[in-house]
Amino acid sequence: MILCSCCVIRQDELRAAVRALITENPKAPVTLNRVYRHLGRKPDCMDCSPLLTRRISMISADIIVREDILRGQDIPRRLK
Ligand code: FES
Repeated sequence: MILCSCCVIRQDELRAAVRALITENPKAPVTLNRVYRHLGRKPDCMDCSPLLTRRISMISADIIVREDILRGQDIPRRLK
């Protein structure tokens, strides 16, 4: 499913980008700007930003909890 039609960002691509950013720095928030920069794309209209922000938050929480990325460390406040 395409989440951003201007930059053609698919759901699986977004998940891979979020996973890479979390692996790189688990305590830094995954923002829309970081995702676009990681994918090497520039947003155009930003109509997708509410949807992408929500998806990034859901995917981040899912990856951190399922894959036990923090390994017993404090869970960041944004995920509580
Ligand atoms: S739909 Fe994502 S930048 Fe336009």
